[in-house]
Amino acid sequence: MKNSIRLILLIIFFNPLPGAAQTCITTECHTEINQKQLVHVPVEEEDCQACHEQKNKKHPKARGADFGLTETDVVDVCTTCHDIDLENPELHKPVTEGMCLSCHNPHQSESPYLLKEKTVSAICVQCHDTGTRDLPHVHGPVAVGACEVCHQGHGNMNNSLLVFKEVNDLCYDCHTIKQDEIGNYNQIHDPVEESCVNCHDPHESEYPYQLTDVAPELCFSCHGAIEDMSENVLSQHKALKEDRTCLNCHLPHGSNYQYNLKQETFDLCLGCHDKPMKFGRVTIPGMKKFLEKNTDWHGPIRDKDCSGCHNPHGSVNIRLLRYFYPPEFYTSFNIDKYQLCFQCHPETNVLDKNTTKLTNFRDGTRNLHYLHVNRAKGRTCRACHQTHASNHAFHIRDTVPFGRWQLPINYVATENGGKCSPGCHKLKEYKR
Ligand code: HEC
Ligand code: HEC
Ligand code: HEC
Ligand code: HEC
Ligand code: HEC
Ligand code: HEC
Ligand code: HEC
Ligand code: HEC
Ligand code: HEC
Ligand code: HEC
Ligand code: HEC
Ligand code: HEC
Ligand code: HEC
Repeated sequence: MKNSIRLILLIIFFNPLPGAAQTCITTECHTEINQKQLVHVPVEEEDCQACHEQKNKKHPKARGADFGLTETDVVDVCTTCHDIDLENPELHKPVTEGMCLSCHNPHQSESPYLLKEKTVSAICVQCHDTGTRDLPHVHGPVAVGACEVCHQGHGNMNNSLLVFKEVNDLCYDCHTIKQDEIGNYNQIHDPVEESCVNCHDPHESEYPYQLTDVAPELCFSCHGAIEDMSENVLSQHKALKEDRTCLNCHLPHGSNYQYNLKQETFDLCLGCHDKPMKFGRVTIPGMKKFLEKNTDWHGPIRDKDCSGCHNPHGSVNIRLLRYFYPPEFYTSFNIDKYQLCFQCHPETNVLDKNTTKLTNFRDGTRNLHYLHVNRAKGRTCRACHQTHASNHAFHIRDTVPFGRWQLPINYVATENGGKCSPGCHKLKEYKR
């Protein structure tokens, strides 16, 4: 061997402090360091010294040769080339704390951005339990570990490191059909406008559609007043308790009908009350058929306003009524017992003994409403009137339940009054 060659070899093997010319990637050494899909630029350029320097005088190939980093903290190595503001409190904590290597490989990687793992979530779950809680309903992108479609690794001025400022813009970026659907509603539910994550967990949940809870609890969390009026009251609507509860009648995101209803109130009510329902020992008649058969509809029914008298959510009164209405045939008179009817009709109807104009139910000036209703053993309105509809003028009933008996009324309107021969008394006639 020529001396000069020997000298070169000696320099290579015994060089105590390798300089810029030193090659770390040789046929035997560090051959793997630049083989992956993505190689960090300084590694590709074999500029190992950008980050490493030999800390002792041992032979580079000798045991214990210490090629430490140029700086004590990794982050100081990285920030010699990468401008990252470690003081910025908006940034992700592990970034500002300089934990670059918890997410990146310094040399090379199979994944973009020199990330340590194949999926981003595999990196994130080192520190977060998101997507690993084994809940039954996992959001599509979380299920495949794609945290990065919504989050930035480092963060920025957006909350929660999100890639969009507004959460809804993020959701709509993928859910364009939902965006169109919601955009076409006449009215949008306030919390939907505010942020989808008011009700949906962006990652995973116990409940379908990654909801944070199910109706009615979900709804009660903001609508406490509805909870109060629907629980522990005399009259509770089974429509709130069964199947989809609130969603039997309301849409969650918005609607073309007021109160986010699925349909007009009237159609909604008749949709379920289209057939008789067993209700304890009582059977509720099928309201739809009833209205088809009885064509003289009460004013608010004509206006299709079922909720004018009924509170669809529940009530302290019988039959979900918004105001008190006596359930009996006879009751001692007290004006408060007729709050329901007198929301819309004048109280004087039953308060004035004599009248020439308050009511047509009079004989001369004798107020027959007063006579029947305003007394110790008064007849209630139901003794003579149907509340929803009937086939007689003034919604007079055919019959009225009296114990087990359907007591007939036999009312006939006459030109200047009317007559009836009910089960209560013999034929009587009145003339105004
Ligand atoms: C961008 C900075 C940087 C460059 C350039 C760089 N390294 Fe590294 N290297 C590091 C860091 C940081 C560590 C420590 C990794 C750890 O602690 O997990 C490291 C660790 C190592 C290790 C020991 C651990 C391991 O991954 O096997 C070897 C060997 C190594 N580097 C060789 C090289 C060689 C050879 C080159 C040049 C081809 C090189 N490095 C270029 C930053 C760099
Ligand atoms: C000597 C300068 C230098 C140092 C030191 C350095 N880098 Fe880099 N890094 C680069 C260059 C150059 C690029 C390519 C830049 C580009 O493409 O815009 C790069 C790119 C990257 C990328 C993006 C890769 C991609 O695919 O886009 C990441 C991640 C990265 N570096 C992380 C680190 C980390 C972590 C450290 C510290 C361990 C570090 N760098 C130290 C020079 C450096
Ligand atoms: C929590 C994981 C995590 C930590 C910690 C982290 N990064 Fe990143 N980094 C990422 C992810 C993910 C990307 C891909 C781009 C994105 O999602 O924002 C990225 C992108 C990069 C890029 C390329 C894009 C750019 O912004 O220029 C560089 C360079 C980089 N990181 C350097 C660093 C350095 C230096 C540190 C340490 C101070 C660090 N990273 C800490 C996750 C991390
Ligand atoms: C090395 C640990 C670590 C890794 C890896 C990590 N994080 Fe974090 N992350 C944290 C810490 C610490 C916080 C701050 C928690 C706090 O302040 O309570 C945080 C906070 C967050 C926050 C809330 C930020 C805010 O402003 O409220 C989000 C979102 C987040 N991380 C997402 C991710 C994603 C996505 C990944 C994967 C790319 C990831 N993290 C990887 C440690 C980590
Ligand atoms: C579909 C978009 C989306 C995806 C995918 C996603 N996130 Fe989030 N993440 C969000 C939103 C939106 C928030 C803010 C929630 C809020 O404000 O209540 C958030 C918040 C967070 C937080 C803050 C604490 C918390 O739970 O509220 C962490 C940590 C987090 N995400 C980690 C992850 C990790 C890890 C992944 C991947 C496994 C991931 N995220 C995937 C949208 C997403
Ligand atoms: C990166 C795209 C993407 C983003 C961003 C995104 N989603 Fe999704 N989302 C999906 C995919 C994919 C599915 C699963 C496919 C499906 O069921 O339609 C899904 C499913 C859902 C489902 C269940 C749908 C069903 O019919 O079962 C809900 C609810 C949902 N996302 C809400 C949200 C919310 C809220 C946000 C914003 C925080 C959001 N998504 C952001 C892609 C995305
Ligand atoms: C007030 C609570 C609430 C808010 C806020 C909310 N949702 Fe929903 N979302 C629900 C409920 C409840 C369901 C289940 C509907 C059902 O069972 O029919 C649902 C279902 C969904 C579904 C799947 C079923 C369907 O209707 O296609 C998607 C997708 C969805 N929501 C997206 C969104 C998006 C996007 C936002 C934000 C713009 C959002 N949601 C805001 C309560 C909400
Ligand atoms: C049987 C149908 C039906 C069901 C079931 C139902 N609602 Fe309603 N809701 C209505 C109707 C009809 C209105 C409009 C009332 C009116 O016209 O005054 C309404 C109005 C509302 C309003 C606005 C007016 C107010 O009273 O504050 C809220 C809030 C509401 N509902 C919440 C709920 C919640 C929460 C549930 C489940 C616990 C629920 N609803 C179940 C029919 C229903
Ligand atoms: C995060 C809180 C929140 C949740 C959860 C929520 N709401 Fe609301 N809701 C509101 C706010 C705020 C309004 C508007 C103010 C008001 O009328 O009380 C509103 C209004 C309504 C209205 C009246 C709309 C109108 O036209 O006046 C109905 C009906 C309603 N919500 C039903 C529901 C139902 C059903 C659910 C469950 C699926 C639900 N809400 C869940 C906050 C919420
Ligand atoms: C989703 C189906 C459904 C809808 C919609 C519905 N109901 Fe009901 N309703 C029921 C059921 C079921 C019962 C009770 C039968 C039972 O308890 O066995 C009931 C009972 C009633 C009762 C008797 C309650 C009592 O305590 O005496 C009234 C009054 C009533 N509904 C009115 C309405 C009105 C008004 C609407 C429209 C705002 C409506 N319902 C819409 C299913 C529905
Ligand atoms: C003018 C007030 C008023 C209006 C408007 C009204 N109701 Fe009623 N409803 C009552 C009263 C009063 C009762 C109790 C009747 C009784 O006890 O004899 C009742 C009872 C009921 C019952 C229980 C069955 C029964 O006959 O006792 C149902 C179901 C019902 N209503 C449904 C409806 C529907 C559906 C609408 C709209 C199409 C409606 N109501 C509109 C006052 C009204
Ligand atoms: C929500 C308002 C409202 C309530 C409550 C109400 N009504 Fe009526 N009522 C009307 C309207 C409107 C008319 C139609 C008046 C017209 O056609 O000029 C009407 C008409 C009547 C008529 C027939 C009058 C005629 O000239 O044909 C009778 C009888 C009647 N109501 C009895 C009652 C009774 C009994 C109650 C209590 C169970 C009651 N109403 C509760 C609004 C109401
Ligand atoms: C004994 C039977 C009877 C009772 C009880 C009764 N009504 Fe009447 N009501 C009638 C008759 C009959 C008419 C029709 C009068 C006419 O036009 O000839 C009538 C008419 C009405 C009218 C139409 C306007 C008017 O006064 O002419 C209203 C409103 C009314 N009643 C409300 C009520 C209310 C509210 C109650 C309960 C507080 C009640 N009625 C109790 C028999 C009765």
